[in-house]
Amino acid sequence: MSISVKRRLILPVMLALSALALTGCGQGANGKRIIRISHMQAETHPEHIGLVAFKDYVEEKLGDKYEVQIFPNELLGGAQRSIELTQTGAIDFTVAGTANLETFADVYEIYSMPYLFSSEKAYHAAMQDTDYMKTVYASTEASGFQVMTWYNAGTRSFYAKKAIYTPDDMKGMKLRVQQSPASIAMVNAMGAAASPMSFGEVYTAIQQGVIDGAENNELALTNNKHGEVAKFYSYDMHQMIPDMLVANRKFLNSLDETERQVFEEAAALSTEVELVEWEKQIEEAKEIAINDMGVEFIEVDTDLFREKVLPLHEEMLEKNPAIRDLYEYIQTINAQYGEEE
Ligand code: GCU
Repeated sequence: MSISVKRRLILPVMLALSALALTGCGQGANGKRIIRISHMQAETHPEHIGLVAFKDYVEEKLGDKYEVQIFPNELLGGAQRSIELTQTGAIDFTVAGTANLETFADVYEIYSMPYLFSSEKAYHAAMQDTDYMKTVYASTEASGFQVMTWYNAGTRSFYAKKAIYTPDDMKGMKLRVQQSPASIAMVNAMGAAASPMSFGEVYTAIQQGVIDGAENNELALTNNKHGEVAKFYSYDMHQMIPDMLVANRKFLNSLDETERQVFEEAAALSTEVELVEWEKQIEEAKEIAINDMGVEFIEVDTDLFREKVLPLHEEMLEKNPAIRDLYEYIQTINAQYGEEE
């Protein structure tokens, strides 16, 4: 969707939401309770497809009572705004990266730690340990929301208007990072200048030369069209940062036991669907980026990048005791999986 189309759509949606906030009701014309979910991605993105599975499951089991509406493309605002709407109960769910949750619970800072996981296998194993993750998910309860499940958002690497082969190439470059202190420290330690901004602003910032590039998974090149303005993607693989499905607590607590279970099952199902779709789409995204957008994918010596930022592990652990337990736990998983793909 083009930015102007998006703008035209945002206003009516925002007006509808403020009307909703004023009347304080999520009741549809058919008497069903409307469940609203906001997310930041296109309708082709694995998260959207996972959320459609969530919607179908809830409506199949509880369709006489609930109707689920999904708002993609930052239509209800960016991640921070959507979290606020979920906090107040203006909407019921949002998907947000953990970088956006750091201000609500310190434990989420851990996912911004560069080279935290030894491999994608280790990352998936840690995230799929639902028993351990429950304690993490509960950490934002005091803020009025909690996480229900995670979505894979791949492995993040740098992409820019000029090729990056080693950290030396990053000197003098201005690169967008997520609004997280650890990500800012990471890019600065690698020798570039970190420029934090929200995801929706990145395309125009690269296009207009405000920044030289950014860092993300490969879908940012295609789904978000960043490959139109940045032609070199370097596989330094510095972070694996999950997205989270966040739910309003009051809404969850208003459900009876059976309903609550349906929502939990729908969330788990949405993750299963998203993970499968992710693997498929990453391969397709690379093909599209190379063949249709002229993006060059560059294999780099990741150790050169890792060396620059490893001291950040100790620094972060010192500063933030809330991440220590999870850090130790991830080390045991890393030891189990090593550097297997
Ligand atoms: C990915 C991720 C988003 C995140 C974005 C970003 O697209 O899925 O949750 O907001 O990166 O870099 O901001």
